[in-house]
This record gives sequence, C-alpha cells and structure tokens, in this order.
Amino acid sequence: MALVNIKINGQPYQVEAGLTVLEAARACGYEIPSLCAFNHGKCSLASCRVCLVEVVGARGLVASCVYPVNEGMEIITNSPKAVEARRASVELILSNHEKNCLQCPKNGHCELLHVAEMVGARDQKYVGEMTEKTVDEVAPGIIRNTAKCILCGRCIERCKEAQGISILGFENRGFRTIVAPVQNRSFAESPCMQCGQCVNVCPTGALMEKSEIEKVDEAFKAGKKVIVQTAPAVRAAIAEEFGAKIGTAGTGKMVAALHRLGFYRVFDTNFAADLTIMEEGYELIHRIKNGGVLPQITSCSPGWINYMEYFYPEIIPNISTCKSPHMMMGAIIKSYYAEKNGIDPKDIFVVSIMPCTAKKYERQRPEMANDVDAVLTTRELAKMIKRAGINWNKLPEEEFDNDLLGEYTGAGVIFGVTGGVMEAALRTAYFVLKGKEYPLVNFQEVRGLEGVKEAEIKELGIKVAVTSGMKNAKPLLDAVKAGTSPYAFIEVMGCPGGCINGGGQPYVHPTLLPNEDADILDTYRAKRASVLYSEDERQVLRQSHNNKDIQKLYKEYLGEPLSEKSEALLHTHYNANREKYPNK
Ligand code: SF4
Ligand code: SF4
Ligand code: SF4
Ligand code: FES
Repeated sequence: MALVNIKINGQPYQVEAGLTVLEAARACGYEIPSLCAFNHGKCSLASCRVCLVEVVGARGLVASCVYPVNEGMEIITNSPKAVEARRASVELILSNHEKNCLQCPKNGHCELLHVAEMVGARDQKYVGEMTEKTVDEVAPGIIRNTAKCILCGRCIERCKEAQGISILGFENRGFRTIVAPVQNRSFAESPCMQCGQCVNVCPTGALMEKSEIEKVDEAFKAGKKVIVQTAPAVRAAIAEEFGAKIGTAGTGKMVAALHRLGFYRVFDTNFAADLTIMEEGYELIHRIKNGGVLPQITSCSPGWINYMEYFYPEIIPNISTCKSPHMMMGAIIKSYYAEKNGIDPKDIFVVSIMPCTAKKYERQRPEMANDVDAVLTTRELAKMIKRAGINWNKLPEEEFDNDLLGEYTGAGVIFGVTGGVMEAALRTAYFVLKGKEYPLVNFQEVRGLEGVKEAEIKELGIKVAVTSGMKNAKPLLDAVKAGTSPYAFIEVMGCPGGCINGGGQPYVHPTLLPNEDADILDTYRAKRASVLYSEDERQVLRQSHNNKDIQKLYKEYLGEPLSEKSEALLHTHYNANREKYPNK
C-alpha cells in the first residue's frame, strides 16, 4: 500500500495514496460535513458543496469528497473561509427544503439537520421560490416527497449500484430539477422493485417507507386479535435503533416490547421459514426426481420476485411456487391456528414486522388473499416502541409465545442473511435424500457476503449458487434464461447481503453513528449476520424437518408437503405481464 505524507491543520500524517481529502481527513480523526458523499467519503457527483476545505496552493476551495490527496499536500479543514463557505452551502440547501421537522418522518435520523447543526446554520438567510412539492405515495412500499429532496443523488447511485436498474434519475433541468423515476413517473408506474435500498441512503425525509402504523392502531381500536410475527433479520438490527452497537442481538427485548405493546400473540416468522423449507425442499426434490424445470430458484424475497416479473418473466417456471415465509405464517394463522383456537379468522389481524419495504407491496398482491393485514419495517416497530414510552434498556428478555406455532429451528433463523435459505434447504434435502442428518450441520460454502457464491455439494451430486442484489444476480439469471445454468438450485435475495441489509432496517449513516468503528460501512452487514449465525448455533434443533410444531401441523392439518391443502395455502403464482399489472 503506497503512502503519502500530508498535513491537516498543520499536523503531519501518512495516509494511503488514492484517498480523497475527505477520506483521509476522516481516517486522521477530522470530521468534515458531507451530504452527497455516502460511501466512505468518495463521491461521484459532488453536488452539495458541503464538504469544502482549503488546500494550500489550490485555487479556491475544493470539494474534499472528490479531491485526491497527494504527496506534500497541506489541507486546512477549519479556516474561516472554508467554515463560512460550508455554512453558505447548507443555508442554500435549506432555502429550498420543506423545514417542517416536527412532522417529518425522518425526525431523529435526518442528516441534513445534523449537518446544519455542525456548520452552525441557524438563520434562514435565503428566502425565495421553492421547488414544487409532489408527493408520490401510490406505490405500496415507498413514498417520495420532492419538497424534502436536496438533490444529493445518493438514491440514484444506490439503485444503480445495488440493483443495476437505475429506476431513479434527475428529471427536468435547472431550478425545476427533481429526482424521480424516468419521465417523472410514480414508483407505481415504473419497474421499481420496492426494495427500499434508495430509502436506506436518503439523508432526508424525501424517500421513506409508507407507514402502516395507523392501520395497526385502528385494528387495536376495533378490538381485533392483533397477532404479530417478526422476521429473523429484525432481531439482528432493532437494538441499533436504541443506541446499541451494530451486531447486538435484540431478540428477547423485542419480544418483551411486543408483549407490552399489547399484541395478542407474538410469533416468530422462523416457524414459517421452517415451513418454507419443507415445501421448497420437497419441491426441489420433486423436480430433481421427476425431471422438472431446473434450476429451481427461491421465492422468499418479494423485491427479487418484483424484479423477476419485470425483467425475466421467461424464467417463471424456474421459480419456486412457495409464498414467502411471513405470507405462509399469515395463511396458517388465519386457517390452522384460528380453527384450533375456535377464533373466527375475521377477528384476527396479522402484522408482520419485516426488514423490508417490498413486503408491504407483496401483502397487497391479489394472489395473497389477505393472509397478512399490515407490514411494519424494523424502523416502524422502533417508532411504535418509542411512542409507547417503553424503555428499551430496561426491558427483560422474553420468549416468543409457544402456542401451536411457537417452535423454530436454527435453519429458520439464518433465512435473514444471504445463503441462509440455501443452507437451510440443504440441511433438509440432505436428510430427505440420504435418510440421515448432514453430520457437519453447517454448509460453509454458501456463507459469506460475496455477491455471488457457487458450490458443488458432492454428497448430493448437485451444484448450487447464491446471489443477492440484482446487479450481482444478472449474469446467473441470464444463464438460466439461456438454458446454460449448471445449477440445480439458486437462492436469490433482492437486497445486497440479504434481509439483514433490507430497505426497512435501521439507517447506517456514519455521521449519525459517531460511536461506531470507522470501518462501519464495510462491516455492518457481517455484524448483523453474526447475530443470526450465533442464534442458529445456540438452537437445539437446527434442521427445519425436526421442528415438532411443523411435524404436528402436517400430521393434524396439511397432510404432507405439496399436498392439496399445502398448495392452496402456502403456494402462489407469478405474473408474466407486469406492464398490465402496476406496482400498486
Ligand atoms: S426501491 Fe429499489 S428498485 Fe426502486 S428505486 Fe429504490 S433502490 Fe431502485
Ligand atoms: S431523494 Fe433523498 S437520496 Fe435522493 S436525491 Fe433526494 S435527498 Fe438525495
Ligand atoms: S432481500 Fe429481504 S429485505 Fe430485501 S427485498 Fe428481499 S425480502 Fe425484502
Ligand atoms: S459531500 Fe462533497 S460535494 Fe457533497
């Protein structure tokens, strides 16, 4: 690694060659405000001008997020000229920003407010015409508000780099410039996956999940039996909302909070993840034994399913027909659970707490038969807990309710991270095909956060692949479409890294998390994943087929995997004609 000698505010430092001034300054312990630079301090647009610093010998101030360090460079981050210029940049941004902070859903997590505080922008210096306000709230998962947008371009970059589909771009020109799907359409009229990756990087309230908290409030008011389930990835991140370090498990406190919020039953979607493995695993074995369409591709990520219907409808026969786990859970709660407990399904209201904005869309698909009534993101659950005045730090650790659907295995837990569905499926496929448990339990080959993982499972005589983020997935999907894919089974998750990095998870913004390690952007996904792998290791039962409540469900209600009843409740179909099937 080549190093260069630089000075920052008169102090000598050695830093890596090739860094931007912003990256180098941060590495040396200096905080320079920034807005459009999201990655470590490198930016492609340099649009906000909030990161201006002085470089001795350079003409004028430079944008530190794009200016590279070089040997002998002298940087002054805090000269009166730089400080004044940064404040002016922020004041100009604020002059065209809807400043109703009290009503803003981003309150508490707003980077603009943080930066305004940093530069000391207190007065409203510039007053004039504002960009016309348009609120796009037609799509089920995401809301876009042009009056909150500061044109930083982060969302544009994230959609391009994570999903490779560039749904968002700059529309219009000059003062009329806004960020929107192409031709200034609504999200509902664009092939947007509703994955929420753009929401995760938006520094303001311009992009937000569409909240369903009010729907849940109404269900409580109406006296419904409000049953909640939580996805595996939620426990891996919820504690961050209450100041815990990234990588802190929040399972027990989350369950305790849900009990205190008054939910009738608190279930774990892991139960249904085990159920998914039974259905999807048997579907795979059926296809392998009977010459069915291969590779089989997983279906538990509605962001991915959305993308597939828009961009790869030809491969619908390859996609597992299994509903995603939380939809299966909803279907089982409103059938088996209701029947066994003598409850009219009409009196039940199922809430899914998910790391995901696409699941808000998924639950409203016409094929889903109202299995789930509301989907809240991890962030929305945190809002409900805070609103109720529940002190997270004082909560005890509680267990999920053990009422017919209470048991889950380690295989269900790892669904929340890329490779987890594959590993869970392989544990059960091995048992079904070999008649004994896989002695090592873990399939290490499919673990890790790489965009594409491939493995040959010699014991089963099959090749498998795992991918997440649509940009990564594209080459694998092209091969499936061309009929050249060598795999029997492919796991695809919509968000890079899987649900631990879903569009409804707590924000990971270095400027808002000063107590986190400096390498936070490189490590947060691995830290969240480790929460799930540790929980898997702690379980006595680690294979879905060993879940006793699942065995009972099949014995007393469903019959067997892929039975007529299972097909009716737990499976779905896809739409090859999405132009006629808008995202709403
Ligand atoms: S929700 Fe996902 S696909 Fe849609 S614009 Fe945002 S990042 Fe792109
Ligand atoms: S919507 Fe958000 S992320 Fe996108 S340009 Fe506007 S402020 Fe930036
Ligand atoms: S990977 Fe998870 S969070 Fe992302 S779209 Fe799929 S289900 Fe939702
Ligand atoms: S952070 Fe450098 S110009 Fe925006």
